[in-house]
Amino acid sequence: MNIVLFGPPGSGKGTQAKMLAEKYSIPHISTGDILRDNLKRETKLGLEAKSYMDKGELVPDDVLIGIIKDRLSQSDCASGFLLDGYPRTLPQADALSTILNEIGKKLDIVLNIDVPPDDELIKRLAGRRMCACGASYHVLFNPPEQEGLCNLCGNKLYHRDDDKEEAIINRLDVYKHQTQPLINYYTKEGVMLTVNGAAGISEVFDEICRLLDDLKTGDS
Ligand code: AP5
Ligand code: MG
Ligand code: ZN
Repeated sequence: MNIVLFGPPGSGKGTQAKMLAEKYSIPHISTGDILRDNLKRETKLGLEAKSYMDKGELVPDDVLIGIIKDRLSQSDCASGFLLDGYPRTLPQADALSTILNEIGKKLDIVLNIDVPPDDELIKRLAGRRMCACGASYHVLFNPPEQEGLCNLCGNKLYHRDDDKEEAIINRLDVYKHQTQPLINYYTKEGVMLTVNGAAGISEVFDEICRLLDDLKTGDS
């Protein structure tokens, strides 16, 4: 299955994508994670992206389109993929459609994780704690067993640089102006489905799995 997980910052794209990638054995492709990995390794791409990311601005389209073109052509995407955080602009959506055409694939579903209002998203992002191993927690909604430490590897958890209040507010604004219009775009294409992202993590997961399983058996 070729899936896009769509939704505002803090809606739970990364949380759900990790669980879905495991259940359906397809690669989880998070453009945010790819950029952060480049930042950590101080590559040219990472250094270029940093100033945009710290402010909560979008990294230029041509950079992201290059990343996705490269990633989707890798062999592990042959039987499906799960995009998280891409596309975020109309040019990125158009480019995705061109790239998929070129490799003889199409999107099966764009899942919109809907979480009103902004207060809930701000609460989720302000309380998020990350581990270098890729695990992610929330101080209230998904706390680690030992405060400040990762359940999986025991490393100390950290707060993402763009989870500071000023950057969060900008990210939500950028989402509304540049990314939300894609809801119409994919609705017109007939591939958009919305899930209630305000429910708990496991309820949202169950709802998404139901939709994906229906899709696989051709019920929807
Ligand atoms: P990116 O890393 O994609 O960040 P984002 O879209 O802002 O989304 P988040 O990762 O913050 O939220 P999420 O939806 O994954 O939520 P999560 O599951 O962690 O992008 C970062 C930056 O990179 C961008 O600002 C931009 O600069 C750049 N970038 C990336 N892609 C780009 C692109 N295509 N074009 C241009 N620039 C790009 O959950 C959040 C918290 O809530 C966690 O603590 C979690 O435990 C908790 N939580 C999750 N679900 C629930 C629930 N159901 N109930 C309660 N708590 C929950
Ligand atoms: Mg994420
Ligand atoms: Zn860890």
